[in-house]
Amino acid sequence: MSNVVIIGTQWGDEGKGKVVDLLAEHADVVVRFQGGNNAGHTMVVQGKQFISHLVPSGILQGKTCYLGNGMVIDPGVLLEELDYLSDHGISVGPDQVRISEKAHVIMPYHKSLDHAREIKKGDNKIGTTGRGIGPCYEDKASRRGIRFIELTNSNVFAERVKSILEEKNFTLEKYLSAASLKADEIIDTYTAYAVRLAPYVGNISVELHRSLRTGKQILFEGAQGTHLDIDHGTYPFVTSSNTLSGNACCGAGIGPKEIQHVIGIVKAYTTRVGRGPFPSELFDDIGDTIQEKGAEFGATTGRRRRCGWLDTVILNNAVRLNGLTGLAVTKLDVLGGLDSLNICTGYEYQGETLDYFPGDLQVLGECKPIYETHPGWSEDISGIRNYNDLPENTKKYLRRIEEIVETPVQIISIGPARDETIVVKNPYTA
Ligand code: IMP
Repeated sequence: MSNVVIIGTQWGDEGKGKVVDLLAEHADVVVRFQGGNNAGHTMVVQGKQFISHLVPSGILQGKTCYLGNGMVIDPGVLLEELDYLSDHGISVGPDQVRISEKAHVIMPYHKSLDHAREIKKGDNKIGTTGRGIGPCYEDKASRRGIRFIELTNSNVFAERVKSILEEKNFTLEKYLSAASLKADEIIDTYTAYAVRLAPYVGNISVELHRSLRTGKQILFEGAQGTHLDIDHGTYPFVTSSNTLSGNACCGAGIGPKEIQHVIGIVKAYTTRVGRGPFPSELFDDIGDTIQEKGAEFGATTGRRRRCGWLDTVILNNAVRLNGLTGLAVTKLDVLGGLDSLNICTGYEYQGETLDYFPGDLQVLGECKPIYETHPGWSEDISGIRNYNDLPENTKKYLRRIEEIVETPVQIISIGPARDETIVVKNPYTA
């Protein structure tokens, strides 16, 4: 029996959705353990594209999907997503989708605060997705949050909203010059959500343990990426949750001994949305080519993603922080046709070479990438299904990554569709 965690190694958007969808075939249940609808997981099945923001990508494989206590969930968005999936013939009843009673609810004031704070910060803004993620996690940490337990308990919900809103409206109006919100409207809307969602809510930790006891296999789906982690990412240009593999335990309510494999998803190059330092960022035609060929626009906000060369300083950081046991390299096809490829192997900072990812953003901002250059390949690799059939230079690129980060490449994605994949070693069957 194996349980597997999928983690983004860079700044999110590595293609986790596709790999989760692929591996979900071998799992019995799929769990998300952090984040909210700031994530956008894209899957292409039989030529049709699905983007999910909250429901784990395993839903397309007909698996039971859990939204763990570590998540922050906008109930209106979740209902829209359930309706959308249902309209496309995918089963999303309370047996297929389970929501942790301890997950926190994103309220309208969280979204208003997210927007208004970004506006007030002006040039210093973080570039959040504007979905209310940060303000919701703030309330969780300061013990003013509303969980699904409270949302679905009409005796406490209305009172809780009224008392919290007093302070939120004060901040919105007086400090942020933004519109205040009306308690009655929020209570009415959210009470209707609660009625629909109540059958989905339960004690996920207990349900997962029951699954484990009966030999079921779990796939944990990370959102965002290692370098957006609130502790270990490029703070303050990060999201508000722990995105690392360790949080699969806290955010789902299971112990670390249940996890056997941690697969890091690595885009064959690097991208980032939002602000913050990015040492291997490209500002030339190659960056534009990668951006266009890779269709690098955010699945959630539609923003153009910044593009750069693969950075193994970042990757080594992800290997260490997550305890990665294997890698899945995605979008390798996008690099085809380039004469040569650079891999960043270290940073130069004030005449010194750094082989680790600095925590001080001022230092990181001054780091210059040190590159080694490899020959590219001109062949279209999207039709290849066996590792040995890949062009020699493609294999050399992959082997060099494995060598630098001392972690094996187990999955290679060469196109958006489920079958455009080379599985070297499946963590569930190997
Ligand atoms: P927030 O999570 O909306 O608070 O945004 C904080 C930072 O994380 C911003 O730079 C966002 O662009 C980034 N971010 C959040 N979610 C994702 C994601 O799923 N992919 C890539 N970047 C993300």
